[in-house]
Amino acid sequence: MDTKIRSWFFFYVQLPLLFFSNSHLSTAAEFISPGQPLSGNQTISSKGGIFELGFFTPGNSQNYYIGIWYKQFPEYVVWVANREAPLSNKTSSVLRINQDGNLVLLNQLNRTVWSTNITSIASNSTTAELLDTGDLVLRDGSNSSDVIWQSFDYPTDTWLPKGRIGRNKITGERQRLASWKNSEDPAPGVFSVEMDPSGINQLVFMWNRSKIYWQSGVWNGQYFSSLPGMVAYQHTKITLVETQNRTYATYESLDNTTMTINVINPLGQLQRCAPVGSSQTWSCFWFMPTSRCEIYSYCSSFGICTQPLSTLASCSCLRGFEPASQKDWNSSIWSGGCKRRTPLQCSGNTSVDAEKDGFFVMRNMHLPGNQQSLTRVRSAKECELYCLNNCSCTAYAYDSSCSVWNGDLINLKQMSDGDVGGGDLYLRLAAIDLQVPSSEKSKGWVHWVIVGVGVGWKRNAEQLGDGESAFFPCWAAEKIVEDEVLALLDFRLGGIINIEELRRASRVACWCIQDNENDRPSMELVVQILEGVKDVSMPPIPWSIKILTDNSSWISS
Ligand SMILES: *[C@@H]1O[C@H](CO)[C@@H](O)[C@H](O)[C@H]1NC(C)=O
Ligand SMILES: *[C@@H]1O[C@H](CO)[C@@H](O)[C@H](O)[C@H]1NC(C)=O
Ligand SMILES: *[C@@H]1O[C@H](CO)[C@@H](O)[C@H](O)[C@H]1NC(C)=O
Ligand SMILES: *[C@@H]1O[C@H](CO)[C@@H](O)[C@H](O)[C@H]1NC(C)=O
Ligand SMILES: *[C@@H]1O[C@H](CO)[C@@H](O)[C@H](O)[C@H]1NC(C)=O
Ligand SMILES: *[C@@H]1O[C@H](CO)[C@@H](O)[C@H](O)[C@H]1NC(C)=O
Ligand SMILES: *[C@@H]1O[C@H](CO)[C@@H](O)[C@H](O)[C@H]1NC(C)=O
Ligand SMILES: *[C@@H]1O[C@H](CO)[C@@H](O)[C@H](O)[C@H]1NC(C)=O
Ligand SMILES: *[C@@H]1O[C@H](CO)[C@@H](O)[C@H](O)[C@H]1NC(C)=O
Ligand SMILES: *[C@@H]1O[C@H](CO)[C@@H](O)[C@H](O)[C@H]1NC(C)=O
Ligand SMILES: *[C@@H]1O[C@H](CO)[C@@H](O)[C@H](O)[C@H]1NC(C)=O
Ligand SMILES: *[C@@H]1O[C@H](CO)[C@@H](O)[C@H](O)[C@H]1NC(C)=O
Repeated sequence: MDTKIRSWFFFYVQLPLLFFSNSHLSTAAEFISPGQPLSGNQTISSKGGIFELGFFTPGNSQNYYIGIWYKQFPEYVVWVANREAPLSNKTSSVLRINQDGNLVLLNQLNRTVWSTNITSIASNSTTAELLDTGDLVLRDGSNSSDVIWQSFDYPTDTWLPKGRIGRNKITGERQRLASWKNSEDPAPGVFSVEMDPSGINQLVFMWNRSKIYWQSGVWNGQYFSSLPGMVAYQHTKITLVETQNRTYATYESLDNTTMTINVINPLGQLQRCAPVGSSQTWSCFWFMPTSRCEIYSYCSSFGICTQPLSTLASCSCLRGFEPASQKDWNSSIWSGGCKRRTPLQCSGNTSVDAEKDGFFVMRNMHLPGNQQSLTRVRSAKECELYCLNNCSCTAYAYDSSCSVWNGDLINLKQMSDGDVGGGDLYLRLAAIDLQVPSSEKSKGWVHWVIVGVGVGWKRNAEQLGDGESAFFPCWAAEKIVEDEVLALLDFRLGGIINIEELRRASRVACWCIQDNENDRPSMELVVQILEGVKDVSMPPIPWSIKILTDNSSWISS
């Protein structure tokens, strides 16, 4: 029981949860009607008291938005009206029914910043009501069963039970989830989840509304073939609904005592979240894609994603590049990407007789997709010359045909030995950046795992208070042995983990520090274990560590 709570604690996700302050809400009405606008601290609630709508401020932002949240969990906003049109003063802003019957949001200058924007409303006495599903509906006053607009047709980043992701076959209008830009800005970010625009019945994850980086697999009548989490966790059931005019995916919570929502987070992962125990906090426990390196452009320009553990995807800069912001990079914020250390000779910033730029070969890369194919170029040498002679060319590849890349390189991935489909990429660098000897290649990540686990240990050691006499490597080793790898996780890592991979890595790390050299796995085996090809058994606690803890005088010194 205790373990479970702690596990949840370590699962707790800080970054993608969107908090805001609304400690000061006054009593709620049930409708917004022509005579009853909403302003300042006022809210409306759904009939059963499940959802609430009102102004909120995300994080430390100074901006106000109209949002909907679970009344019981006000820190998590599930829908935002004016995503792109923040307000600066909620007291002088108003959400009201307009003369033409639309629900409109007016700023302090009485200017419309957001509207339901329906062109033909017969009646001017419409009302807006918040339903217990979290759907905000606008009804015709003369016929209250006639819904003329609903927020479920315009989801934000959150897929609520009974909510829809889909398309209107007639108007082409789509219901898509679009991530917040960041935890303080609900404006649409680059990531979205929607029905495949090609018409196939599957959900796709898109970057910049154009690049598909993950797909759910085609609907097979019962489920989307690659959405294992949806099957594995019996909390929800997704269905695909086809009507005359619409196709959409919707879901319901099977366990009606839990509220389960799916959110596309600002990093580009769909996460499933639910309230945990009696702690009154949300936890997010399922992420897709599980591997962050699968997220398109995760490391941004000239970055490369390395991921020995899906939890701990990290970015590094290509040779000749450095983080655009070292500060962000240090806090694992990769979105700024990398910048060149030395300007290219071509850029005109260097002296005329500077050494010519050259190319650094990166073997077995998953090549970025936005290349220009030069069909007339017939040899690798010609391809190289073409690239060298065109200042906007940053890289080329030759594999019976010539491909060149202009401008920033994004979404680069190092492939593992044995993966197919990779190629050698020739990266253009200033002469000086080519001189450094190369050594930092594929084995690097194994080292990284060991260091990573080491860091986890160290941090955990810091967390152990004065009263704790456990020597941390041993504590860590014991935790591994007790199969409590989760306790090893530093919650600051974000809690986004694949337990199985962490367990594997922790065990392998513990095997690597065994006293008897013969007990330690070969590098090859380590790689196989980390890749999941080989199983790894429970390691014994290293003897030297056991000695240390058995003799506590060692610890206090
Ligand atoms: C709204 O809430 C804030 C914070 O609690 C409070 O200071 C303010 O007086 C309230 N405004 C109104 C109009 O009630
Ligand atoms: C917001 O508007 C109200 C009413 O117009 C005004 O009294 C208040 O000073 C404004 N607040 C800010 C921060 O501008
Ligand atoms: C609705 O329209 C009627 C006739 O045009 C008008 O008299 C009435 O004031 C309007 N009601 C509202 C709430 O705007
Ligand atoms: C906004 O409209 C209200 C009522 O319609 C009016 O009282 C107020 O003076 C207007 N404010 C501005 C800044 O125009
Ligand atoms: C309302 O719709 C029109 C066109 O359909 C669009 O140009 C306008 O920006 C929309 N206004 C708002 C406030 O959404
Ligand atoms: C009210 O609207 C519903 C749904 O659009 C419709 O079926 C019904 O006939 C309408 N009732 C009246 C009295 O217009
Ligand atoms: C995103 O797409 C828009 C047009 O659809 C394009 O102008 C923009 O350059 C793209 N952004 C990036 C970073 O490629
Ligand atoms: C489908 O769309 C057509 C044309 O817009 C409309 O006449 C029809 O009522 C719609 N059917 C349903 C089931 O909504
Ligand atoms: C949960 O569902 C069951 C069966 O559908 C029902 O009997 C029960 O009342 C529901 N509980 C709540 C809290 O809605
Ligand atoms: C980033 O981290 C490195 C090593 O931990 C440190 O030396 C450097 O000062 C940090 N830079 C910034 C800007 O935080
Ligand atoms: C050229 O140098 C200037 C000043 O050092 C710098 O601002 C600019 O970004 C450089 N241009 C390129 C293409 O590197
Ligand atoms: C260099 O490449 C860019 C992008 O493909 C192209 O527009 C330009 O014409 C090329 N310049 C030369 C000199 O070939």
